[in-house]
Amino acid sequence: MCAIVGYLGAKSAQEVIVEGLRRMEYRGYDSAGVALVDGAGTESAAVAVRKKAGKLGNLEKLIDEDPLPPSTIGLGHTRWATHGAPNDRNAHPHLGAHGRVALIHNGIIENFAELRAELEDAGHVLLSETDTELAAHLLELEVESGADLTTAMQRVCGRLDGAFTFVALDARDPDRIVGARRNSPLVVGLGEGESFLASDVAAFIEHTREALELGQDQVVTITRDSVSVTGFDGSPAEGNRFHVDWDLSAAEKDGHDWFMRKEIFEQPRAVADSLLGRRGADGALQLDEMRLSDQELRDVDKIIIIAAGTSFYAGMVAKYAVEHWCRVPVEVELASEFRYRDPILDYSTLVVAISQSGETADTLQAIRHARTQRSKVLAICNTNGSTIPRESDAVIYTHAGPEIGVASTKGFLTQLVACYLLALYLAQVKGTKYGDEIDQVLCQLEAMPEAVAEVLGSAEQVYALARSYAERRSFLFVGRHAGYPVALEGALKLKELAYLHAEGFAAGELKHGPIALVEDGVPVFCVVPPRDRDFLHDKMVSGIMEVRARGARTIALAEVGDTSVESCSDEVVRLPRVPVLLQPLVAAVPLQLFACELATVLGLDVDQPRNLAKSVTVE
Ligand code: G6P
Repeated sequence: MCAIVGYLGAKSAQEVIVEGLRRMEYRGYDSAGVALVDGAGTESAAVAVRKKAGKLGNLEKLIDEDPLPPSTIGLGHTRWATHGAPNDRNAHPHLGAHGRVALIHNGIIENFAELRAELEDAGHVLLSETDTELAAHLLELEVESGADLTTAMQRVCGRLDGAFTFVALDARDPDRIVGARRNSPLVVGLGEGESFLASDVAAFIEHTREALELGQDQVVTITRDSVSVTGFDGSPAEGNRFHVDWDLSAAEKDGHDWFMRKEIFEQPRAVADSLLGRRGADGALQLDEMRLSDQELRDVDKIIIIAAGTSFYAGMVAKYAVEHWCRVPVEVELASEFRYRDPILDYSTLVVAISQSGETADTLQAIRHARTQRSKVLAICNTNGSTIPRESDAVIYTHAGPEIGVASTKGFLTQLVACYLLALYLAQVKGTKYGDEIDQVLCQLEAMPEAVAEVLGSAEQVYALARSYAERRSFLFVGRHAGYPVALEGALKLKELAYLHAEGFAAGELKHGPIALVEDGVPVFCVVPPRDRDFLHDKMVSGIMEVRARGARTIALAEVGDTSVESCSDEVVRLPRVPVLLQPLVAAVPLQLFACELATVLGLDVDQPRNLAKSVTVE
């Protein structure tokens, strides 16, 4: 989704803002723009704007050719287009009718049409097709009628429907910037003599690690040394102060060509961090922010997991683990479909929302629906203080650190870890597993960072494979049991990054239709279950033989020492020996590496694939 940043301090606002946008460009890259107050405090104070379609680099080039005046107050935006094509005109910031107010926006204003008609009837000329420009005009009308920018923002927000997070400035009032938050994120950075507003702390951690998170429907006013928060109705409110405990290096590439590649290689650490502190003094599993009582968990008789994209596939793996360890039925549902099918929910249904960003609108709306039906909601999330965990009854935070690459990697692996922990915790509370059995699985999980590191050792082999398939336009992925979601995730990675036809199937389903897709030379990745699951394993090997007999090039992901795959595979990528339910943690890794390398070879932008955004805050 879009990225927003506002700065008020003593430094060059242009530099702070452009750097902040660079750190958040993963959120959207259809266009970029900056607005600064020129001549602050003088009679002739005005807003200076530069904006350009395409990536941030295009804006920087424009500013080089047509420099902005020096200023210490401004705002900037990168866009993921919703209303209006991604061109220069629709790029943010947008100005009021007289150019006094500048505004940036993340979200969609739903009563757009009626507001547009109202403004046009009153003689306003709108220069763009965006909903954002309407808010800029309305805000300027309010300040021109004598309201200060804070009051003006409260009044405008009160008139809007939909999702909108704004940051705005008024050239005549250069000692404040005002923001408003509904649905998409907005955090305040509190520095020494300087303040920031941004969609993500990454925008300002270079300057300060002290932050304030805003709640729903709040308006915030920053000056150089103060911050005040109100509701949309003007009632006093407070944000939550917090300290950002990761540093800048976590948001940098560390010598890798892509954030995604760096994040793939960070996975052993991310998995280890997500397991840290999960045992109490007696060694039993504890989950700090569970916030649901043991009795509430014992009462759970059905679990519905809701998520989108990669997080959905983590949810599919969770189903296997929860049902096996806890004997509770689990449904896994796409967040965007969930509430529209009128799901059967009540107080004994636990809804688990999985979201790396904690901001995905589809998932957020789904949990809101679940709560109206009296179900408890538990969030599995990587982003501290984001909306989904805030609105949930309980949360398990993953500790992947910031994930910048648009395609999720370490976010996925740490979600799997959180799902396993949740399943084990439920088994512990419900007594469906003995303490020593739970301890045994925890020990196996604690060995996984090493196993993930081991599979990363096959990177060069996988890269060579990617190069050898650079000409292919179609790929298939098959798996069984917990390997099935891995196959789906492998296919998604390739679609997202390389824009190629890639499909994942349950291996047993191949013969019911998809095998018709197999033709000479088509690469088929096969996630082979461990040998101790002989029933699954042997069926998978038969499946590989069937596609190979029809001309496929088969690439087996199989555990070390599994010789049975050698005769039916063109290539074998070795996985460490791990239990079948934990195998997704290692099997997903070569598929991530493959997609990353293939997209690199094809000359594509791995971190910012076309048409995608890291967190999608519209439904
Ligand atoms: C977007 C991203 C995907 C991600 C999905 C869910 O579509 O491009 O990579 O898996 O959102 O995101 P979430 O933050 O809810 O896990």
